[in-house]
Amino acid sequence: MTSANTDFDTRAFRRALGNFATGITVVTATAPDGRKAGVTANSFNSVSMDPPLILWSIDKRSSALDIFKASSHFAVNILASDQSDLSNNFAKPQDDKYANVEHLDGLGNAPIFEGVSGYFECETYEFVEGGDHWIIIGKVANFMDAGKPPLVYHQGAYSMVIPHPRFQKSSDPEAESQSACMLSSPLGDNLFYLMIQAVNASHNNFVKQQLNAGMRNSESRLLLVLDSAGSQTTTAELQRAVAMPAREIEEAMHNLKNKGLLKGDLHQHELTGAGHEKLKELWDIVRSEQERVFANLNDSELEIFKKALRMAVSA
Ligand SMILES: Cc1cc2nc3c(=O)[nH]c(=O)nc-3n(C[C@H](O)[C@H](O)[C@H](O)COP(=O)(O)O)c2cc1C
Repeated sequence: MTSANTDFDTRAFRRALGNFATGITVVTATAPDGRKAGVTANSFNSVSMDPPLILWSIDKRSSALDIFKASSHFAVNILASDQSDLSNNFAKPQDDKYANVEHLDGLGNAPIFEGVSGYFECETYEFVEGGDHWIIIGKVANFMDAGKPPLVYHQGAYSMVIPHPRFQKSSDPEAESQSACMLSSPLGDNLFYLMIQAVNASHNNFVKQQLNAGMRNSESRLLLVLDSAGSQTTTAELQRAVAMPAREIEEAMHNLKNKGLLKGDLHQHELTGAGHEKLKELWDIVRSEQERVFANLNDSELEIFKKALRMAVSA
């Protein structure tokens, strides 16, 4: 067997993999001696319909590995969009990951959680060696499908699914005229459809300009939050504010420091002069985008628009 190609930068490799959006699962098991394991994992995937097989991969350094090796069963809990705290809880090594987590014991006593989008209860089928991970294949013995919107992981940050708006601004005249047609149809009169279209259009524009400014979404989010967070802010509060797991906060922190935008650590941080300038550049992008899009509304129309949006947010 040839050794792994380490010619390229592992950080860059991980970042490139982050373009592939995934769901997030917590994979659980209970060993015959009663020890419980739970690992946040986005490596879950389907394998076969007949027999019904799924897989995920576990880092060989995981303290939970011997529990998965000793267990006859494991369960894959697919997290729902409001379960990022569960994801964070099972993403870091700690003595008792289950201390504050309600669960039921499923097949082989593998823990299953309430409120998930779905779960798969599996018999352990095969362990396949895959570099520094073990690929664990499970044969599905039972599953639950609640169909709740899932928690999504994309470029190191928690995200959510919104339906694709189907028609987007385009330089192709045919696509553009289809889009105009849609906006004058009954669907184009529906406020929720319009809100999704609007969010999509402005988000895409913003991300493009943000990348031009040399910033990834996770880096901008962290810079923004750290600027307003006091040094007393706990890691859990930061995780919630930026909607990123701890390891990605560390990664974004590393990048911001490398770019000379930030000094110190998570709890004792300071934006450098260049950091303040970058933040101002990002706010300028947001402001000019808002001015460009809403150039034809006067102040009172803008106030009504804001009122309507706040109503929708808190409804
Ligand atoms: C979004 C996300 C996805 C992850 N996916 C995996 C994975 O597929 N496999 C894995 O071994 N670790 C994965 N991890 C890291 C583990 O959750 C983490 O290293 C582990 O829970 C540490 O505790 P342990 O030593 O008890 O395993 C992921 C972490 C996050 C935040």
